[in-house]
Amino acid sequence: METFYGYDDLIKHFFSKGQGHLFQHWNTLSEDERKSLFEELKSVDFALLTELQSLATSGHTMHDTFEPAPYISLKAGTDEYLHARAVGEEHIRKGKVAVFVVAGGQGSRLGYEGPKGCFSIGEVSGKSLFQIHAEKIVKYSRKYGVSIPWLIMTSEANHAATVGFLDKNANFGIPRNDLFIFSQGMVPSLDLDGKLVLESPTKLFKNPDGHGGSLTALKSSGVLRKLIERGIETISYFQVDNPLVKIVDPVFIGVHILHKAEVSSKGIPKTGPGEKIGVFVSYPDGTMGVVEYSDLPEKQANETDGDGKLRFLMGSPAIHLFQCAFIDKITSVGAINLPFHVARKKLKVWEQGIISEKEGLKFEKFVFDSLPLAKKSIVFEMRREEEFAPVKNLTGIDSVESSRKMMSDLYKEWLRKKGIEIPPAVEVVEISPLLAVEADDLPAIALPNQKKVYLA
Ligand code: UD1
Repeated sequence: METFYGYDDLIKHFFSKGQGHLFQHWNTLSEDERKSLFEELKSVDFALLTELQSLATSGHTMHDTFEPAPYISLKAGTDEYLHARAVGEEHIRKGKVAVFVVAGGQGSRLGYEGPKGCFSIGEVSGKSLFQIHAEKIVKYSRKYGVSIPWLIMTSEANHAATVGFLDKNANFGIPRNDLFIFSQGMVPSLDLDGKLVLESPTKLFKNPDGHGGSLTALKSSGVLRKLIERGIETISYFQVDNPLVKIVDPVFIGVHILHKAEVSSKGIPKTGPGEKIGVFVSYPDGTMGVVEYSDLPEKQANETDGDGKLRFLMGSPAIHLFQCAFIDKITSVGAINLPFHVARKKLKVWEQGIISEKEGLKFEKFVFDSLPLAKKSIVFEMRREEEFAPVKNLTGIDSVESSRKMMSDLYKEWLRKKGIEIPPAVEVVEISPLLAVEADDLPAIALPNQKKVYLA
């Protein structure tokens, strides 16, 4: 990082790097504002800027040769399944598992201006995504007689609102010393000519560095160290937008341990070639990874095998297990060297006193790009109906509507499994995670004969 001795030094440097436009309004700034802009700009990392600029022209580099990744499937109830479950349960009971939700995003696609985790998804209870996740942790903690730490990654845009929301709700029952909230890093956005842009007279326009920033943030926030000191070995990672996720899945954890994997990922068969989920692949060097849906060439997305099944079938619901030792290892030299992905987006930029929307480039790292760094990485097949109902849109595919329906369908499946009768008038069932996180937790109960039922 450069050292600058005063304004002139900094301004000269920015001009020499083709970024002098950031000082066009310099003469209109007060002394305090000049100081703020100086502080903001002196931290610009020009090596990173050069990397971003070259990405802006060439796009990110991808492996061009990959095959579908192998995956593990276990039939529920088999000896192998029960053994994996027992191993996983032992790991949880010994206090070796923490839960990690990446929640840097806003709910804007849902028409909600606030952290996505605060969005109300419970159809009968009105519970937020955060409350549902938190209550699952409380339930698993009670089931296994252990305290399970909850890690939440926020972004600059939603950190204060997230902390405030959890505070107001007493962290939904998670003890303060089991809760770790930290913010992800930010990265400058660029205009289409590769120039830095401002969001105000004294601030650069930046965007969160993607969930790929989560592993670095875990380390730099000091949270990883605290977890390791507490004896945590495995981090169960998922996205805030999936209320159905089994956040602590003993079978998955057991399979992960038995295979001595550094990273494990859940996989679901894609619904079709166009489904917007990344696919698991293996590379010629034997490592595994995910190719994002937007990067998978159409030819490969449509390829089928002899039975007409998609060849790149196993999609990623973004549910992973990371060994703490693995994260510690790959972050030992500071930020992990994951590639940036570039996306063309509208930026709200400040130019000469006016804020306007301008086409520009945002750069993000993806957490699944850490998979090829693992010595051993596995994919474990799961049932979509049991644990993947993402809330991306208000209606249609992966929406509030579809997610609520999937939750209700799964809860009805649990009731049937337990032999509990569903009266004819019942259309919607919601079960509080505090009551049950799987069918076997349900007590023998009689349901009221009404349209919407909430079991708590
Ligand atoms: C994502 C995955 C995709 C996966 C799908 C499953 C990416 C690039 N792709 O797609 O492979 O199959 O989910 O649902 O993620 N987030 C942060 N910080 C950031 C960016 C995102 O915390 O800087 C969090 C969001 O809060 C959200 C999650 O990451 O929980 C996913 O982000 P989103 O942009 O919705 O990804 P998708 O395109 O849905």
